[in-house]
Amino acid sequence: MKVIGPSPGASRRRQRDPSPIGRGWSRGAGPGEGRTIRRAVVIGSGTMGGGIAAHFANARVPVYLLDISQQIVTASLERLKKSKPPAFFTAETAELVTIGNLNDNEAWISEGDWIIEAIVEELQPKRDLVARIDRLRKPDSIVSSNTSGLPISQIAARPYFLGTHFFNPPRYMKLLEVIPTAETDPKITDFVRDFAERRLGKGVVICKDTPNFIANRLASISGAMLLDFVLEHGYTIEETDAIAGPLIGRPKTAAFRLQDLVGLDVSSSVARNLYDLIPNDPARKVLRSPRIEALRKKQMDRGRLGDKSGQGFYKKGGKAIETLDLDTGEYRARREPDIPSIGEASKIKSLPERLHFVLQQDDKAGALARHVVYNSLAYAASRIPEITDDIENVDRAMRWGFSHEMGPFELWDALGVRATAEAMKRYGIDVPSWVLGRAAVPAAVIGRLARSLESSPSETLDECGRDARSPAVRDNKGASLVDIGDGVLCLEFHTKMNTLDDDVRSMIVQSVEELEKGAWIGMVIGNDGADFCVGANLDVAPSESRLNAAVKAMQDALMAIRFCSRPIVAAPFGRTLGGGAEIAMAASRIVAAAETYMGQVEVGVGLVPAAGGCKELIRRVVSPAVRQTPNADPLPFVQNVLQTIGAARVSTSAAEARELGFLTDADRIVMNRDHLIAEAKEEVLELAAHGYSAPAREKNCYAAGRDVLAALKAGIYVMQQGAYMSEYDAVISSRLASILCGGDLSSGQWVDEQFFLDNEREVFVALCSEPKTVERIQFMLANGKPLRN
Ligand code: NAI
Repeated sequence: MKVIGPSPGASRRRQRDPSPIGRGWSRGAGPGEGRTIRRAVVIGSGTMGGGIAAHFANARVPVYLLDISQQIVTASLERLKKSKPPAFFTAETAELVTIGNLNDNEAWISEGDWIIEAIVEELQPKRDLVARIDRLRKPDSIVSSNTSGLPISQIAARPYFLGTHFFNPPRYMKLLEVIPTAETDPKITDFVRDFAERRLGKGVVICKDTPNFIANRLASISGAMLLDFVLEHGYTIEETDAIAGPLIGRPKTAAFRLQDLVGLDVSSSVARNLYDLIPNDPARKVLRSPRIEALRKKQMDRGRLGDKSGQGFYKKGGKAIETLDLDTGEYRARREPDIPSIGEASKIKSLPERLHFVLQQDDKAGALARHVVYNSLAYAASRIPEITDDIENVDRAMRWGFSHEMGPFELWDALGVRATAEAMKRYGIDVPSWVLGRAAVPAAVIGRLARSLESSPSETLDECGRDARSPAVRDNKGASLVDIGDGVLCLEFHTKMNTLDDDVRSMIVQSVEELEKGAWIGMVIGNDGADFCVGANLDVAPSESRLNAAVKAMQDALMAIRFCSRPIVAAPFGRTLGGGAEIAMAASRIVAAAETYMGQVEVGVGLVPAAGGCKELIRRVVSPAVRQTPNADPLPFVQNVLQTIGAARVSTSAAEARELGFLTDADRIVMNRDHLIAEAKEEVLELAAHGYSAPAREKNCYAAGRDVLAALKAGIYVMQQGAYMSEYDAVISSRLASILCGGDLSSGQWVDEQFFLDNEREVFVALCSEPKTVERIQFMLANGKPLRN
């Protein structure tokens, strides 16, 4: 489990940022001596300024967003509200952004605690703007530039000024390069780093003020090296993207797809600027490669800039996507690469093993991989210590900024430092002598290179108290129960995509048994996978005769969590679907990562939630409303729940999960996923310190009865008649409505949780034998998407 936690809980809690950011959000700590950001000002409302403003709003910081005209900034905000993937956590979040223009509203700058410029990438306008900000800013504010590569010290040199280079899109890209100048007050740098990590959830890399900083410097040069090789050796676009993507640990966008995303105009100007800024870097000549320049010119003359102009190296032709033929300069149908080793390599899961295989191949895949991998490793090494003294910074920058599976030095370690260096030399690539320990280099660099070879991912969890060497308290094939220190356990799933199966269920039961023995304070349910849990494993559905018992066993396991006498805190993140959402809601409390996509999606496979999903939404959404206002009409509340489950709605953020009722006001949202387990553990300790006891078993769920059910069914009929849902969707929705209303009760009444669970189970088991449900499940297993039959 790889979780980088914050410093141990108690001391951190004392440091918490006192700013009023609303209930249930993680707060930033502050090495900044009481400094906080109550308001941000972002100037320049384009791609980056807009995205940065939205993300400050996501962190509950009110923002003024300014541009040269009201018309531009208004259009920018409209675009932001509609952006996909969404820039804002919820529609309401956008209200924290106030737009204005620099003519009428420049005085707003004086209200900002942090003023960020994100205007055009040109030195003089940026210098002029900072000078203007200087005249208006309040004395203790921070000012930063979002330049992607201009020297920060040439824009301004002031104690309160630094570079903060966000990546696009700012909400989703983890990397934030922070670039202090010689003049920057180190306390400001520390504050910005801490605020960005805790409140904005970013992964911060402190960079030296060198051209293009770390990530763009390496990516620009190694991108150009790749392109030049591809053009020289006659690779097709399909071949290139098939080799330079996940096969070698890079994202799916690989090479040409990435170019289309970035835009040829942007990458050309980055290359042009960078060339002039690095006169002493021998690698810079590739930025002026005649082959690349000729291709760029041809493409740009024809307006083929990439996605922004509708065509680039790829073009959407009707339904299919056409590819540019690099020989003829015309678009043609996709041509699958005919390189058998690609298929073979794709079957190898581990990146180092896969890459090792690819690098040995005597074909086009091997040749391109050798060129790209060896050159980018050597180039990264050659820039130490110019761009950073710490090679971990390089690895983080490439993982967080360009989604590489491993950074260059981690990869080098994994492939074998010496063997890879020898291979590079055979290939004619200079390997900096420090890599082989023959030259003076900061000791930390060599030390880390060796140390990272030995480290196991789970070691990082020790930041929140786990001793990586101690064995799991209990474990089986699907899940483990581990000691994370201070008397707290962590239940982690490790099935494929963290699906639920009988092993996981059994470990849930065992973990509660372990807690009830009384030796532990409480437990976190969390893990380090790509998603918290995507729901039940449909592949291992129990036989019909065992179905009822199997569903009851899962219900009982989750009720054991719910009524455990020790606090259990769920730490969801990423996809938290179906049974995953039910587990989270069964816990005493949820501490969710900001990027949590939560939903009850069972309807997509012709089923209904049956491990408490319906019951919990009734308990969380309907029951409090009726309790507060006993004469209130429950219909709209039950209708909301019906819609959430019936339409299989999945939240686009944890904040939206709260709007949908999955999270309560007491649950918390943590911006930085790396802090999630540690924050959840802290919540366990806090609940225990306040004398946690199990909830009472009582009649705490409101069943609205048959009148409300009749109204819901009428609505379902109208939807079906209007062709908004299929006939079978209507069948499932009606049965779902029946669960939500407590069946055919003659009037609304309070019932216990088991009452709802029994109804969920009965409907679930009945639906399982419906042919259309069986079809839906089979379709999902075969195609990974729902069938609306
Ligand atoms: P953009 O062209 O989308 O937006 C720039 C905005 O600034 C426009 O709305 C423009 O009206 C406004 N503007 C221009 N001059 C201004 C001035 N003097 N005063 C006030 N507003 C002014 O540009 P984008 O892509 O948002 O880039 C902004 C900055 O962020 C640049 O420095 C760029 O290098 C950097 N950057 C861009 C990334 C990207 O992927 N687009 C990634 C990271 C950094």
